[in-house]
Amino acid sequence: MSEQTVFLNGENLPLSEAKVSVLDRGFVFGDGVYEVIPAYGGRLFRFDEHMRRLQDSLDAIRLNNPYHHAEWQEILTTLLKPNGTGDQSVYLQLTRGVAPRDHGFPQAAQATVFAMANPLPEADKALLQNGIEAVSLPDSRWQHCNIKSIALLANILLRQQAMDEQAMEAILIRDGLITEGAASNVFIVKKGVIKTPIKDNHLLPGITRDLVVELAHANQLACEETTLSENDLRQADEIWLTSSTKEILPVTTLNHRPVSGGKPGPIWQKMYTLFQAYKANLRKPI
Ligand code: PDD
Repeated sequence: MSEQTVFLNGENLPLSEAKVSVLDRGFVFGDGVYEVIPAYGGRLFRFDEHMRRLQDSLDAIRLNNPYHHAEWQEILTTLLKPNGTGDQSVYLQLTRGVAPRDHGFPQAAQATVFAMANPLPEADKALLQNGIEAVSLPDSRWQHCNIKSIALLANILLRQQAMDEQAMEAILIRDGLITEGAASNVFIVKKGVIKTPIKDNHLLPGITRDLVVELAHANQLACEETTLSENDLRQADEIWLTSSTKEILPVTTLNHRPVSGGKPGPIWQKMYTLFQAYKANLRKPI
């Protein structure tokens, strides 16, 4: 198999030839932002929404977007081509570029832009049938979790703490309220109503989250964006996690105790079916 081609600063290169300076502020400070965009049937999923969130992240860190919407589309679609129509995920990141190490913004640095596409494995059937295990942990992150920052040390430590407890994800609690997962958004179901935390600076505005809310409204499933407490989590009939790479996963064990009788719940089943139908539509030829 030929080597993977990646995009770096305007060029498509073999992965082994894509090199970045050790003085890049992404490497030295974690000074940058990123996106993860799934692609089905060779088409980028919710591309406009991902581009809007990227722009919001760039605006928040005061970094110029070097490409227009159509240019991004061209760059990313080119990366998808070698893998044909199989499911893929695109990773892209921009950093504040190469400059002598100093915390303040450099006067003249050019953003470093990197992107790659990788196969997106199908969801593990056992996880969909049995659900996953999660633990709740205090949200130790900063106050700008709405920015999709590449500086993910807190998220990494939280995910690892969950994994050390044989769980797949940490559900984070700040001041008694649910924020999100270490790398996912959180939904609960209570008495037939789907609920998810309101978008604010304590969580990433997930593209999958927004689609789930949209699908609920379009299909007359009761759905609320609201404040949710740790107690709501503990007493939930169902718990779900959403992300671009994991789609919608049912949590069937929370803090080592069963949720919804230890099996994925009926509302999750409905939403999962709606989500798959939405995806299948995207795969159809135009
Ligand atoms: N992460 N919250 C956090 C902290 C995340 O890192 C992610 C996704 C989400 C879900 O957002 P979306 O539905 O737009 O993927 C929520 C990606 C997949 C990652 O870091 O790999």
